[in-house]
Amino acid sequence: MLMLQRVSKARVAGPVGALLRWSSTVRLTAESYPQVKRLDFGQITPQTVDFFKSVVGESAVVTDQDDLLFYNEDQMRKYRGQSSLCVKPKTTQQVSEIVKYCHEHKLALVPQGGNTGLVGGSVPVFDEIVLSLSGMNKIRSFDHTSGILKADAGLILENADNFLAENGYIFPLDLGAKGSCHIGGNVAANAGGLRLLRYGSLHGSVLGLEVVLPDGTIYDSMNALRKDNTGYDLKQLFIGSEGTLGVITGVSILCPARPKAVNIAFLGLESYEAVQNTFKRARSELCEVLSAFEFMDRQSQWQAKRFLKTSHPLAQDDPDVDVPEYPFYVLIETSGSCKEHDDAKLETFLESIMEDGTVADGVVSQDESQLKTLWTWREGISEASNMDGGVYKYDVSLPLPVMYDLIEVLRARLDEHGLRSISDASKPVVDVVGYGHIGDGNVHVNVIVREYNKTVEKCLEPYVYQWISDHHGSISAEHGLGFQKKNYIGYSKSEVEIALMKDIKSKFDPQGIMNPYKYL
Ligand code: FAD
Ligand code: MLT
Ligand code: ZN
Repeated sequence: MLMLQRVSKARVAGPVGALLRWSSTVRLTAESYPQVKRLDFGQITPQTVDFFKSVVGESAVVTDQDDLLFYNEDQMRKYRGQSSLCVKPKTTQQVSEIVKYCHEHKLALVPQGGNTGLVGGSVPVFDEIVLSLSGMNKIRSFDHTSGILKADAGLILENADNFLAENGYIFPLDLGAKGSCHIGGNVAANAGGLRLLRYGSLHGSVLGLEVVLPDGTIYDSMNALRKDNTGYDLKQLFIGSEGTLGVITGVSILCPARPKAVNIAFLGLESYEAVQNTFKRARSELCEVLSAFEFMDRQSQWQAKRFLKTSHPLAQDDPDVDVPEYPFYVLIETSGSCKEHDDAKLETFLESIMEDGTVADGVVSQDESQLKTLWTWREGISEASNMDGGVYKYDVSLPLPVMYDLIEVLRARLDEHGLRSISDASKPVVDVVGYGHIGDGNVHVNVIVREYNKTVEKCLEPYVYQWISDHHGSISAEHGLGFQKKNYIGYSKSEVEIALMKDIKSKFDPQGIMNPYKYL
């Protein structure tokens, strides 16, 4: 018999989606990192502002300090730039004219999408001009036979997916910031997200790009071809380039058919070994219907509980229990085209892993609203980790067997230094939570702090990067390098690789005006 409890029709706890913003108490990046010095770029003058207004119109140029806060501050409230100018073009031609002007006057620029990036890449460090793509948000075309979508880079991911849903298709990327992030920002960051396991990386699904290069030239490869072996595949260079090689203005992307049947199972497990076994079994027994395999530790569920303020899915029958005592949780999603087939497959799988004791407890979704509720316990961890005052984030690829060791090692290190306590507000660190895309070999380690603190930062870095390197991992699985990790790339890439990257950067952008102080 299937030993699953059933989730009640709980309210979908709302805060995931469009992201919250606070009034600024964020320290200037230039003050937090005084070792970083402004480079020899030009200065914005009244003529610059007038020129931009003549290109995009007065209403698309932001100079008011309060209005600029959004563009200067990052999502984690860790970095704050000092830009006095943000420009919001509506066409590729306008982007080209702005970038050409910046090139001629050696003015530094930060391309910005939804500003949901998590490595400080999307905001200025000093007075760089913010080039926001938010005014470029149109769908250009959609081919109903091939599923190829062509759109402006500033289209919000959720809007793209809603449009595709109406046409029976799905965007091949999904992530917690979908209500705010742009598809151009996703490409620039090479975001991975919740369904990479099923749909692969953007390096595979992006078919073409339109990019304004650092001198204003428009590179147009808005292909609708799946196969094209004529020369170097140049678009790949821009995927994951984090605004350092040009401004992405258009995206052509292959979208899969939208699955007709989706199920979620949310499971409690007694050990990390059981998590790995469940993954191995899910791959072979759920096979073609497996679309996501996400992992959360108990501490992450505690944090999500504090944020969502609703009953935990596995505690619903017992209102006295906040979060059950399982050390680990996994969320398994199946997507397919035949509900009866997928239901039967999932049921057989769950029966077998519960009967042999691999999984201790679980619930399955029975309708769309329960499905969304279950996802909030995974997707909500990101914002929940930000609620105490700050978060040091490590987004790591590691071999599965050692993946969770990193979290335990960091907890022990912070304890040795007397820095961590959930209840004692005099300690800077609240807790360390672990969660992530275990199906992709990617874990997120969030060190939740009461405020950003140099002692904590020095205790964590570069220690954490050295540990990852020693264990043959990557210091950035999906969030990128940005400002946070630009000095640490050597922990994941060789000197030869870094030298080649520097060559590419100087070939595209010899003056270094595109998103300086970041990446390399
Ligand atoms: P921004 O944050 O504005 O920019 C990101 C980088 O790309 C910056 O370096 C910026 O300069 C550059 N950029 C932006 N637009 C352009 C453009 N048009 N041309 C050139 N460069 C550009 N990431 C994941 O990989 N997986 C996840 O599951 C995931 N989940 C998230 C959940 C939450 C709640 C949040 C807040 C963030 C999450 N992220 C995740 C991080 C982030 O990468 C994504 O939110 C998203 O891909 C960033 O898109 P954006 O439009 O907000 O870009
Ligand atoms: C996630 O998987 O939730 C994202 O990458 C965001 C995050 O880790 O904060
Ligand atoms: Zn992630």
